[in-house]
Amino acid sequence: MSNTADELDYGGMRFDRTGQAEAFDAIGDHYDEAFPHKEGQVASAEWLIRSLPAGSCVLDLGCGTGTPTARQFAEAGLRVVGIDLSDGMVALARRYVPTGEFHQADIADLRPGGPLDLGRFDAVTAFFSLLMLPRPEIPLALRTVHHLLLPEGLFALSMVEADVDDFSIPFIGKTIRVSGFLRDELREVVEAAGFEIVDESLYTYAPATVDVPPEVQIFLRCRLAA
Ligand SMILES: C[S@@+](CC[C@H](N)C(=O)[O-])C[C@H]1O[C@@H](n2cnc3c(N)ncnc32)[C@H](O)[C@@H]1O
Repeated sequence: MSNTADELDYGGMRFDRTGQAEAFDAIGDHYDEAFPHKEGQVASAEWLIRSLPAGSCVLDLGCGTGTPTARQFAEAGLRVVGIDLSDGMVALARRYVPTGEFHQADIADLRPGGPLDLGRFDAVTAFFSLLMLPRPEIPLALRTVHHLLLPEGLFALSMVEADVDDFSIPFIGKTIRVSGFLRDELREVVEAAGFEIVDESLYTYAPATVDVPPEVQIFLRCRLAA
């Protein structure tokens, strides 16, 4: 169901996906080895688990290996659906979270009128996945998240604070392209997409590899704006 071409046509705007999935196919389990401390996203997922009624369904965008996030939801008794551009990551997520439902798909495939319709969700998470998109696409992806949520839906987002657009960086032996915002602009972009930010936390994080520089991670807990 995913776009297989390297270039994605998104409502007239064209975005380049070259190499992004291939990098994560190759990174595989090394991703969790390089980023073993995931306190911020574990805490954000716990917020969702506390806030959601039993039986709720959560969509994890760019689910990676499924750990810790999809696994946390599954162990808490929530239904979890994950999507990821990387076939390799989807295979790992299926192995680590056997009760989850995982699809190889592009976040853009879920846009209103896009090729993949997975229904609506009680909550959506996007931990360090929207930063893999070119900057002009991030507001579109946030609108897609809005469209995917049921009324009263919740959204947990994390990004790395950085003023960059589609910037190539070395990452665990591969090269990936990343984008980001400084914190004030990120808040503005998220609010402009129709979310109310109910909590924000910052983590300074040094990954367990010299291949990735230290970073400031921003975690936003959001709900649909009234
Ligand atoms: C930095 S990793 C984060 C993984 C996981 N969310 C976590 O925090 O552990 C980014 C993930 O997003 C996926 N990804 C990148 N671009 C994507 C896209 N356009 N659609 C869906 N997934 C994408 C990558 O394959 C990768 O698994």
